[in-house]
Amino acid sequence: MNISNILSERVSAAMTAAGLPEGTNPAISLSNRANFGDYQANGVMGAAKKLKTNPRELATKVVEALDLTGIAEKVELAGPGFINIHLDQNWLAAQLNQISNDKNLGVNQSEKPQNVVVDYSAPNLAKEMHVGHLRSTIIGDAVVRALEFRGEHVIRQNHMGDWGTQFGMLLAHLSDKLASNEVAETALSDLENFYREAKIRFDNEDGFADRARDYVVRLQSGDAHCATLWQQFIDISISHSEDIYKKLNVTLARKDIMGESAYNDDLSNVIDELMAQKIAVEDQGAKVVFINEMANKDGDPSVFIVQKSGGGYLYATTDLSACRYRVGELKADRIIIFTDARQALHFKQVEIVARKAGFLPEHVGYDHCPFGMMMGDDGKPFKTRTGGTIKLAELLDEAVVRAKVVIAEKNPDYTEAHLTEIAEKVGIGAVKFADLSKNRTSDYIFNWKTMLSFEGATAPYLQYAYSRIKSIFTKADFSANDGLPAIVIIEPQEKALALKLLQLENVIDSVISECTPNLLCNYLYELASLYMSFYEACPILKDDIADDVKQSRLALSYIIANTLKQGLDILGIDVMERM
Ligand code: ARG
Repeated sequence: MNISNILSERVSAAMTAAGLPEGTNPAISLSNRANFGDYQANGVMGAAKKLKTNPRELATKVVEALDLTGIAEKVELAGPGFINIHLDQNWLAAQLNQISNDKNLGVNQSEKPQNVVVDYSAPNLAKEMHVGHLRSTIIGDAVVRALEFRGEHVIRQNHMGDWGTQFGMLLAHLSDKLASNEVAETALSDLENFYREAKIRFDNEDGFADRARDYVVRLQSGDAHCATLWQQFIDISISHSEDIYKKLNVTLARKDIMGESAYNDDLSNVIDELMAQKIAVEDQGAKVVFINEMANKDGDPSVFIVQKSGGGYLYATTDLSACRYRVGELKADRIIIFTDARQALHFKQVEIVARKAGFLPEHVGYDHCPFGMMMGDDGKPFKTRTGGTIKLAELLDEAVVRAKVVIAEKNPDYTEAHLTEIAEKVGIGAVKFADLSKNRTSDYIFNWKTMLSFEGATAPYLQYAYSRIKSIFTKADFSANDGLPAIVIIEPQEKALALKLLQLENVIDSVISECTPNLLCNYLYELASLYMSFYEACPILKDDIADDVKQSRLALSYIIANTLKQGLDILGIDVMERM
């Protein structure tokens, strides 16, 4: 169900009938003021400019040719050539009645599903996941769920950092610990600590750095002892990440892991290919691509090293190989990658080089989606009091503890078991919603108090709105088991809700095309707020209202509850029947 598409078709037909060239954009948008109608068609002005004719006259002709019988109650011409469309509330009610029993809430399934590869989360396994990986993980997962809801075919790729020179020192350190009879699980229970110990030895202990380097060489040449140590390390580190995914209600599974190490055997082929095509050249012993398309203002090309002078490969080489794999093996139509904004240059370079080399054909989309940083209250990057990085696991535990306090204050009569259950959902939901609702590319300030508030655009507000609607059903003894009663629209608040509900597909599509879950967050917040106004203006439970009106309002509430639940589910946030 897509109202803009329906209006686009009708207005386009009228534009052609009025003599405009086929394919002229009708420019349908939502009106931002009620007296301008519900939707506007603004395309006539641009078209008139091109044809050098009077826009108002042209718009008059378009309006005369425009057939919106049964859809709009009024079409008006305004200003220099705006066409304002006031939708008919009976038509809106009929559309709602049509989707009321649809489990997809009227959102159509993609007609030609695309293969979309989504690269997200991707922690570095040498260390514990920190707050920087929160954003990639949850924004990526929300976009993945939106794509799947729309019927696209998603292939998750967790491009974990499981390779590289730092593993030399880590494996040497692990080898020593195991030799002194420690078990790997204990040694690696705190990866942060383990990394720190290894680094101290690397910097200070005689001979250790050499051993570490030797381990790197042995690991790369497939030495069995090193391979076993590496596997142990990786397995334990992955299980740390999995704990977090579970806590975060994120859909990534072990089968989605395609770490850097998986590309190892292909890296020399990538270099051979780039050299053969003369895209990469030797430069001071290294292999380099000079990218003229990204030259600076003095005309110096951007330098992209693909192999170090000692022969070592880089993050860049791996990403080129990943492109080839995703196109060749995974048959990607579109590749989406979520990392923080500091990697924007890297991915621009990867894309240009991969396209030149034919690893990434023109028809395959390559979207690096950068995001801003999470800041503390002081406006500086979010750190512990002593300046260390904040472990994600600890942050999430704190969220649950804080949520519990807030809920207990509000509901002193709740049992401990009930409190614990909701605190989990509210706490994690609050952290996720606070992050997802921000404009993706900006930095944002992490603030416990606002995210856990029951007012404003927060998870608790939306979760509460949901369970409040559910409690109305209990009071009204209402169930939708035999299908929903018919919806009739009488009051303006009902019309506003109907309009909002029928925009879900548009919102999902924008989330998918721009990789911006914040649009869905805004939508859900607006929907819940409209519901609150509706609830105040349009009584449901009072005795003196006619039964068909009551049933209609319950049905409307039912679709809203489902939309809130489904929308939050796309964000990976749970709702509760009773809160
Ligand atoms: N491991 C990287 C990091 O923590 C992110 C990897 C993103 N994906 C990729 N294909 N490079 O920064």
